[in-house]
Amino acid sequence: MCGIVGYIGDNSALDVVVSGLEKLEYRGYDSAGVAIYEDGGIHVYRALGKLAELKKQLKGESKGKSGGIGIGHTRWATHGKPSENNAHPHTAGRVSLIHNGIVENYIELRDELKAEGCQFSSETDTEIAAHLLNKYLEEGNEPFEAIRMTCDRLRGSYAFLAIDSQHPDRILVAKNATPIVVGISDTEVFVASDIPAVLGHTRDFLILEDGDFAEVKIGSVRIENNGEPVERPVEHITWDPVTAQKGGYKHYMLKEIHEQPMVIGETFRGRLNIEEARIHLGDVSLTQDDIQRIDRIVLAACGTAWHSCLVAKFYIEMLTGIPCEVDYASEFRYRTPVITENSLMAVVSQSGETADTLAALEVASGKCHTLAICNVLGSSIARKVDHCIFTQAGPEISVASTKAFTTQLVGSLLLALHIGEQRGEVPLEKRSKIISDLVHLPSAIEAALESEEQIKQIAKKFHSAQDFLYLGRGTCYPIALEGALKLKEISYIHAEGYPAGEMKHGPIALIDEKMPVVVVLQKSDLLFEKSLSNLREVHSREGRIIAITDIQGHQELHDLCDDVVELPYLSEELSPLVLTVPLQLLAYYVAVLNGTDVDLPRNLAKSVTVE
Ligand code: AGP
Repeated sequence: MCGIVGYIGDNSALDVVVSGLEKLEYRGYDSAGVAIYEDGGIHVYRALGKLAELKKQLKGESKGKSGGIGIGHTRWATHGKPSENNAHPHTAGRVSLIHNGIVENYIELRDELKAEGCQFSSETDTEIAAHLLNKYLEEGNEPFEAIRMTCDRLRGSYAFLAIDSQHPDRILVAKNATPIVVGISDTEVFVASDIPAVLGHTRDFLILEDGDFAEVKIGSVRIENNGEPVERPVEHITWDPVTAQKGGYKHYMLKEIHEQPMVIGETFRGRLNIEEARIHLGDVSLTQDDIQRIDRIVLAACGTAWHSCLVAKFYIEMLTGIPCEVDYASEFRYRTPVITENSLMAVVSQSGETADTLAALEVASGKCHTLAICNVLGSSIARKVDHCIFTQAGPEISVASTKAFTTQLVGSLLLALHIGEQRGEVPLEKRSKIISDLVHLPSAIEAALESEEQIKQIAKKFHSAQDFLYLGRGTCYPIALEGALKLKEISYIHAEGYPAGEMKHGPIALIDEKMPVVVVLQKSDLLFEKSLSNLREVHSREGRIIAITDIQGHQELHDLCDDVVELPYLSEELSPLVLTVPLQLLAYYVAVLNGTDVDLPRNLAKSVTVE
């Protein structure tokens, strides 16, 4: 997820673009750059690192300059490590272009353009688009036609802004699967990844839709979609600036919960070979021979990432036939674990900087293949492992991990599917079904988010409880653990997750009318009847039950529970991700009602880089 912004108007384009990037830095901060048209040409400034590094380079550049056109970008690397060379904007001939998203077919397009003599200076997929657009402009096509021709060649998710030095009165825009808004006024026009970037300048916006491409000028925004001219309605935004920074949400946590459909799509996009039902993991270079030799997979992580490992264990053992064990990184690092050259050590970490996880990785490094599922390119863990599956969650600001968790589950499912396919363990039909379900997952998560109002009411009923118990079986047990962790870390209420089958071995002694019991039930749970009998035991002891389930209209369940949150059923493998969403929302709304600092809960840090 990157931040992009563009401007045309009478103010200093450089100042407006840089101030827009400041508000977008939460979307990516491993490099930044701007392209400004002035004195008859496009001037590009790029810097590795946070925006502050670029601003040092720009010192004095923008003073007093008025008018003009410019685009700017903060990068969250997906293809090509963080570096100045890979920083946007990318320039090809008369074109300077910035991009948010993933061009899935960039390799074939790069080979084609190289054969036509194009010289590439970066490792990015974005540079391909700059060369394509330049090519079509140089062939004499009008800018609007040239951006159409460019988009016709691209596959994947993209939000492009481009300026053409021979038409310095317009910004060329293309939007597919990643957000773009156009801010308008009588004398200026703005383009950005999201509204907060330019809300200080205008409150009137056009929200572009997938498949739109546009030519943006002051006073004129020409849009086409699927070959037809389209109009997008002007939305008047009334947010205050602070709310705007969080995209209109009260807290980053709620914003990041709602980003899950998009970032889950980003995480599998470009990695699914639908036709052959295979998985393409670009940063995993395990050969088939390596994969055949793996006789044990060890997973280690902390906190929420550790919960994702518990789900990953199911995926791995179900799809690969390889024994898989899961360990807390803080425990693994001090044991003398048995690691052989045929082991695969995999760590999971959002930040890529967690000290215990890094230390666990050190124990295995050099003894076997090591792999990470990580959200930050260039992080310590991402740099140390032999192989890496990057989740495309974008920067996760809130301390409570939400979108990182669900994208970690996607990453582990992709890994298990890949290894299983390479070992001949997963027949084509099964692979195709899982891949097809994955493609539908973003919309299932959207549907789960629609439980928000019901969750708000449940939070009002139970937010003053002193203790919560979360129960689940199978892959719903780690989800119960994750729900309990979410609640305790942001609302400070004691909550613990337990396997539902363990009720009789202790926790049932806790049950009374003051103890809400959240039970996570999935339709494909062969043990559903057993879970139901657990609930009868809770109910008979006056326990208050909240069921989170993808089972629709089960009468006894409704009779036993105070509340039943029903979600769409997608598949055995993906139910855990869908059932997680209401638990994230429940923790959030309980914390808000209890007045805690949701994004910065006491005693916690976003990344625990110390033991
Ligand atoms: C999750 O909500 C917590 N903030 C915490 O448990 C976190 O998951 C853990 O510290 C691991 O962080 P990492 O994924 O960055 O390694």
